[in-house]
Amino acid sequence: MRIDVFTLTPHVYAWMTEQQPIAGVLGGELELRLYNYRDTTPLRAGQVDDTPYGGGAGMVLRVDVVAAALEAAYGPQPKHRVVALTPQGRPLTQAVVEELAQEEHLTLLSARFEGFDDRIVQHLASDAISVGPYVLSNGDLPAMLLLDAVARRLPGALAAGSGEHESFSEELGGGLEYPHYTRPAEFRGWTVPDVLLSGDHARIDNWRKDHVR
Ligand SMILES: C[S@@+](CC[C@H](N)C(=O)[O-])C[C@H]1O[C@@H](n2cnc3c(N)ncnc32)[C@H](O)[C@@H]1O
Repeated sequence: MRIDVFTLTPHVYAWMTEQQPIAGVLGGELELRLYNYRDTTPLRAGQVDDTPYGGGAGMVLRVDVVAAALEAAYGPQPKHRVVALTPQGRPLTQAVVEELAQEEHLTLLSARFEGFDDRIVQHLASDAISVGPYVLSNGDLPAMLLLDAVARRLPGALAAGSGEHESFSEELGGGLEYPHYTRPAEFRGWTVPDVLLSGDHARIDNWRKDHVR
């Protein structure tokens, strides 16, 4: 899978590429390309945003700047999904993550300040996704959330078996995962449920099924 991110701060993605699961799939199942809107802006002095029509505070990411960036990368029309990250988008859920992880090629568009000129979302993007009902300062954390969630669904990202029984998975009926415990078996009088120490895998499976939240 190839994921392209368009941003004003490509350098902030560096730490992600060193962390699992991205590090484990980069160069294999995942190809990550970072594009800076400033590198292809048709405006002078690296300008990418402008004041809003109708007045008001803040700066808006220009449609001609994003169009130029997409055209430089893909020609006149991208043949894959282009996702604008915006609070007005479809909420990001595990089902959306599973859907996006099936794609061979995805583009993520990040904005900042007041956000996108709406023509970017209407005409240049195929999808608009929100990472939650709150406002962040720019689209890079949302892009990283989406990248991480999609990357862990790619083959080889996780140790065998560890991705299937997670919260929101079909295997858990979309519910939240059962509780986990590790050593010590007793700490400050707080004990681990006996069944988990029993070695009886059928009972443990039943206990876990009963404790899906
Ligand atoms: C400060 S926000 C713009 C907020 C916008 N003026 C509003 O009130 O909805 C700047 C950019 O951060 C990103 N962003 C912020 N919150 C987000 C969220 N919940 N989901 C996805 N992207 C978000 C988007 O790219 C957005 O255009």
